[in-house]
Amino acid sequence: MGSQGTGGQVSITTRGLVSMVILLLHIRLTDGADLPVTCGFSEDCVLRCSFQSGIEEIIHWVKLDNIRVHSYYYSKDQLENQDQQYRQRTALFNNQIPKGNASLLLRNVTVQDQGRYKCYTSTINGNQESYINIKVEAPVRLVNIQISDDIITCSSTGIYPKPKLTWTTDPPFDLSPGQADSQNSTGTNEQGIYDITSTKPFIRNQTNICTVTSGTRERTATLKQQINSSPGSEVSIPCSFPLSDLLTFNLTWRFNQDVIILTYNMDTHQMQVEDHWKEQVQDVSESGSLQLHRLTRKHQGIYSCELSTTRDTHLVLTYLEITSDDINTGKKPRTKKERDKSDNGTEEGKSETASNPGEEHELVDRQNDDPSGDAE
Ligand SMILES: *[C@@H]1O[C@H](CO)[C@@H](O)[C@H](O)[C@H]1NC(C)=O
Ligand SMILES: *[C@@H]1O[C@H](CO)[C@@H](O)[C@H](O)[C@H]1NC(C)=O
Ligand SMILES: *[C@@H]1O[C@H](CO)[C@@H](O)[C@H](O)[C@H]1NC(C)=O
Ligand SMILES: *[C@@H]1O[C@H](CO)[C@@H](O)[C@H](O)[C@H]1NC(C)=O
Ligand SMILES: *[C@@H]1O[C@H](CO)[C@@H](O)[C@H](O)[C@H]1NC(C)=O
Ligand SMILES: *[C@@H]1O[C@H](CO)[C@@H](O)[C@H](O)[C@H]1NC(C)=O
Repeated sequence: MGSQGTGGQVSITTRGLVSMVILLLHIRLTDGADLPVTCGFSEDCVLRCSFQSGIEEIIHWVKLDNIRVHSYYYSKDQLENQDQQYRQRTALFNNQIPKGNASLLLRNVTVQDQGRYKCYTSTINGNQESYINIKVEAPVRLVNIQISDDIITCSSTGIYPKPKLTWTTDPPFDLSPGQADSQNSTGTNEQGIYDITSTKPFIRNQTNICTVTSGTRERTATLKQQINSSPGSEVSIPCSFPLSDLLTFNLTWRFNQDVIILTYNMDTHQMQVEDHWKEQVQDVSESGSLQLHRLTRKHQGIYSCELSTTRDTHLVLTYLEITSDDINTGKKPRTKKERDKSDNGTEEGKSETASNPGEEHELVDRQNDDPSGDAE
């Protein structure tokens, strides 16, 4: 089936060759707008094309200008001249070709796949062309906030098109000139998708909001000021959003950003509390607040409330500091060893402003061997 021959190409013997020549010489614009298609980065995407059915089908998918994506004639795929970047990633729906379906499946979409594609078809009944314009999108999935040494870092990865990150505070706060420099950085990886990071000083008595926007999607992470509680007491951690905007949502509460406490599905009104948290979780209020009781110092940490709607995700993180005056918790008394461990350093470190999160994490880790209250 070599189509490389030089001599025979102009003699009109095989329609496959002729159409190849037409393709090379004639990139014609047709009337009618391109069909816009948005493909998800690294996902599969179908490029639609239909034609009036007839025998001796010839199909050429070409990315403009002139990159061979996929060809079909003599009743089979003809991939000798396929461009390297499409190798092993394309397929026609071969059994549908006789019905006039020349749609192309493109697998594992890359940023380089963006652009204008031509679908050229020919049968004994004539030929047709149509155009598709592909946009690639890797939406913002997760906005992460971390805090260390009074610096907040907000980051998100794997985004396309180029994201934008903005900080706001509630109430609004004027940074003094020395503080005004928040550093942002955006980088693209070898696949052409973006990661974004920004840092700023933690303003302790304000709510810090980080918003990452890409295309029409936006995701927000909010870091609230800390809440103090004492062991054994009750606490309500708010998850404050303008709920009227959020028609349907799922709510997830997490501890230290990866341990799931509970999930609440708005559609079904079902709440699922993880076993380890059954003793602490009292309820979730209508506004999404998490009501906890019987807390011990190992419950000190970051509580995050994530609300996802079909379009956006909002994340609110709240520090819960369990202050150290170790009143009677109504739980089994701890051994001296446990008490020494958990009370270590807290007496002198018990300032109103404390709570370096690094220390909190350590503290939580150290106490992981402390059996939970329900494991009697
Ligand atoms: C062609 O077939 C594929 C696979 O069944 C289908 O997804 C697509 O909608 C069809 N395209 C057209 C234009 O009919
Ligand atoms: C998708 O393509 C990337 C390179 O662009 C590759 O690293 C990855 O393994 C591919 N994934 C699949 C499922 O083929
Ligand atoms: C950080 O991003 C914001 C918003 O995009 C921008 O206004 C500001 O100039 C950026 N700062 C730096 C240091 O790049
Ligand atoms: C926040 O704290 C700063 C000093 O840490 C103080 O000057 C400011 O008045 C406080 N703002 C509010 C709203 O409490
Ligand atoms: C909520 O979660 C369920 C399953 O966990 C999922 O099917 C549904 O699409 C989610 N709804 C939203 C709005 O994200
Ligand atoms: C308690 O604190 C002291 C210093 O403050 C330290 O040397 C010791 O290792 C700590 N003990 C534990 C169990 O963390």
